[in-house]
Amino acid sequence: MCGIIGCVGVRDSMGRLITGLENLEYRGYDSAGVAIQNGKGVEVYKRSGRVDELKKATPDKHAEIGIGHTRWSTHGPPTDDNAHPHTSTKEDVAVVHNGIIENYSDLRHKLEAKGHEFTSDTDTEVIPHLVQDFLDEGKDPETAFRETIKMLEGSYAIGCIVDNHGAVMATRQGSPLVLGVDDDAFYLASDVPAFLDYTDRVMYLEDGDVAIIRKGDLQLSDIEGVTVDRDVETVDWDPSETGKGSYDHYMLKEINTQPTALSNTIQGRADVENGQVNLEEFPPGTFEDIDSIHLVACGTSYHAAMYGSNMLSEGGVATTAFRASEYELHTNTIDENTLVIAVTQSGETADTLGAMRTAKEKGAEVVAVTNVVGSTAAREADQPLYIRAGPEIGVAATKTFSSQVVSLTMLSQRILDDLERGTPRGDMPEFLESLQRLPDDIERVLEHDDAKNIARRYSDAKSYFFIGRGTANAVALEGALKFKEITYEHAEGFAAGELKHGPLALITDRTPVFAVFTGDEEQDKKTLTNAQEAQTRGAPIIAIAPKDHPSLEFADEHLEVPSTNSAWAGLLANVQLQLVSYYAADQLSRPIDKPRNLAKSVTVE
Ligand code: AGP
Ligand code: GLU
Repeated sequence: MCGIIGCVGVRDSMGRLITGLENLEYRGYDSAGVAIQNGKGVEVYKRSGRVDELKKATPDKHAEIGIGHTRWSTHGPPTDDNAHPHTSTKEDVAVVHNGIIENYSDLRHKLEAKGHEFTSDTDTEVIPHLVQDFLDEGKDPETAFRETIKMLEGSYAIGCIVDNHGAVMATRQGSPLVLGVDDDAFYLASDVPAFLDYTDRVMYLEDGDVAIIRKGDLQLSDIEGVTVDRDVETVDWDPSETGKGSYDHYMLKEINTQPTALSNTIQGRADVENGQVNLEEFPPGTFEDIDSIHLVACGTSYHAAMYGSNMLSEGGVATTAFRASEYELHTNTIDENTLVIAVTQSGETADTLGAMRTAKEKGAEVVAVTNVVGSTAAREADQPLYIRAGPEIGVAATKTFSSQVVSLTMLSQRILDDLERGTPRGDMPEFLESLQRLPDDIERVLEHDDAKNIARRYSDAKSYFFIGRGTANAVALEGALKFKEITYEHAEGFAAGELKHGPLALITDRTPVFAVFTGDEEQDKKTLTNAQEAQTRGAPIIAIAPKDHPSLEFADEHLEVPSTNSAWAGLLANVQLQLVSYYAADQLSRPIDKPRNLAKSVTVE
């Protein structure tokens, strides 16, 4: 977890490092720090707390070389001492690190035996001490850096500066690292928004690459110093997309910009004229050898995977959605005819990457459905499918869930078209038309303010329940995850039919039940019965359904969604639930974009 940044070749490096850290803060935010090299030694400024605290404590200095870090701790509590950058005993080496050094304890004991004094509890601190140790042996800084990397086991993206060396040295192994390329300047970061204000030209580093960056000069090589080439790509993210605009929170902005995000997701992919979905990454025939399908994902992405798996199962193909962290236990069910679809917004979630690697070892075909171009998942998959939602900064995933669901539903259609046993949809023209209408339908959901009223009305509830069947079950779980994540209140999602198998015991008049309906008559009838079972025991029922839906005769409250194809009804309902969570959290004055203990991308297992 965490964000690292580096900057070389501009006079106001310090300012750019701090702005970059602000743009990376979604990745971790328990402490932050920067180190600059300005010809008079290495200067380090670091603090526990948010980047804002660091900003107040950092003098306005000019330096052409610097590195920075915003931390999500894995080893040692978030204190000033544990904040990065970490330095060697002589304080002329400074290092920022994202990831975990698994053999740090062994390395630390050896270094301490040689007289190195450690000042933090982190695994990271062994890195500057190792570099120092090699420098003391008479090695030049670049050799010392390479020799250090050879000693490390685990996952890392590292930025390192050495006094008087005039460069930032960097490498990666299992953690993301991207270079920003400007005329004379270079940037180094965990993610593109860190430097998008300055350049849109990027170079994605591969595991094992070593970059030595000086003003006007970039050397890329492998660990042994053999030159490697990486393409410079232009990213088409608009820098304004990374700001909050007029919204109070990124989350609210991201909820409200879903119509645009979805238009991008769908663009060129719904072929109404020929009655089919076109995905240029997957031409007809791509999936014809597939026997079974596994989806692997975590958190919100797992709920999108559940949604997608429903579509495939309904179409007659054996499909299972797995929580990525549990996938290892199912390796015996994977073979060359298994299609494994990894769903990950960031493309950097360690659990999901682990599941992908397991699948590849077993010879499965792996597709990554991701938002981040060039992410590890995109690069390691046989083929990525980009959801094109644009950058998402709020820790709570909103617009990317919608774009994942739509991408997976489109992908499901493509797969079903390729498989003889796949049952074609009977409603294809209507399905595609409603797909194209989705951005407008979401716009209509956003026009309502009933979610805000409901959030207020039930603000003193003890617990919040969410129920649904089929795709609405996935939405119920997602509604509850979002609610607990940003309000810190207790919330649970259930398959509607499961309430009576235990959870009903918890029902009182202080457990509002949000019931999600999809427009499928048979399923909705049963969900309504389950909701009424809770209502009889005192629970207020909030129905999320189109106007005139049969549930409204019984529901205590109504969150309205436009009537649409049942494939998309859950998606529209989810937007209402996103708004309920947002307004409930806002009323409690929670730090909505950065909920406690969480980070945007979880790069540890
Ligand atoms: C969503 O609100 C959460 N922050 C979290 O569950 C997230 O979806 C999960 O960590 C997976 O992330 P990914 O999509 O980047 O793999
Ligand atoms: N393992 C390091 C630490 O605990 C880095 C964690 C991170 O990636 O933020 O400080």
